[in-house]
Amino acid sequence: MFLLKTWRSTAFGVYGYLNFTKSGFLEHSKKFKAEDMQTQIEGKNCIVTGANSGIGYAAAEGLASRGATVYMVCRNKERGEAALSKIQSATGNKNVYLEVCDISSVGEIKSFASSFSSKDVPIHVLVNDAGLLEHKRIITPEGYELNFAVNVLGTCTMTELMLPLLEKAAPDARVITVASGGMHTAPLTKDLQFSGTNFDGVEQYARNKRVQVALTEKWAEMYKTKGIGFYSMHPGWAETLGVAKSLPGFSQS
Ligand SMILES: NC(=O)c1ccc[n+]([C@@H]2O[C@H](COP(=O)([O-])OP(=O)(O)OC[C@H]3O[C@@H](n4cnc5c(N)ncnc54)[C@H](OP(=O)(O)O)[C@@H]3O)[C@@H](O)[C@H]2O)c1
Repeated sequence: MFLLKTWRSTAFGVYGYLNFTKSGFLEHSKKFKAEDMQTQIEGKNCIVTGANSGIGYAAAEGLASRGATVYMVCRNKERGEAALSKIQSATGNKNVYLEVCDISSVGEIKSFASSFSSKDVPIHVLVNDAGLLEHKRIITPEGYELNFAVNVLGTCTMTELMLPLLEKAAPDARVITVASGGMHTAPLTKDLQFSGTNFDGVEQYARNKRVQVALTEKWAEMYKTKGIGFYSMHPGWAETLGVAKSLPGFSQS
């Protein structure tokens, strides 16, 4: 078990060093098609969770700069408003809106989904970006382990409750879940909330990210005839507040 874990981490580290760093990105970006990078998406409605920071912020800004209407789902009103106003002034796109919702709470996601659904807009893109790596075993007020609550339960609840609006945009609808190559360091497990002793937040994060990918495969199969595409992706290693807080050693290296 120990050897397998060490092998998984080493292989991921070497592969990641070659592919997920800035030089890896620059190498891969040579294959990007210029016309893809300039696509305009006016009239498309996009939801981005975790949009006030890091990769979610970059995704929301990128979508807004291409003309989309963007709904930024953030848990903190002040941080959300600050990010919203930065994106509006950077892109000149006024069709960017803030929705306050804590993804660790099924109750809050249900309230959000219920009020948002009354707008009756088709959703073309849902980006499930909100995520975290919490080292301590924290239990949410609803009784779930926090990493699981945000990364798995929140992502799953948000996606399933947005399906009716995604179906309205079919066959042009897609759900993109920001998983992580870090999932390769842990196997798929049924122990979703890390109930055993010796809680390990890094391991729990890796397990959660594997579940996100497995769920995405399941949804892709279930909705393949309904015009909704499901994708999971690894963003590379990006220097964000989340990494600086959760993996300070990694952030500095
Ligand atoms: N950076 C990397 O190298 C890397 C690599 C692989 C995968 N990822 C994934 O990329 C995604 C974004 O991470 P990041 O690196 O950009 O980190 P980040 O800057 O910390 O962004 C995470 C975002 O998720 C939000 N969030 C966390 N808990 C939430 C909750 N309960 N409800 C609503 N929003 C919540 C955060 O809001 P607050 O600002 O309020 O905390 C923040 O907006 C995550 O899913 C992460 O697992 C990142």
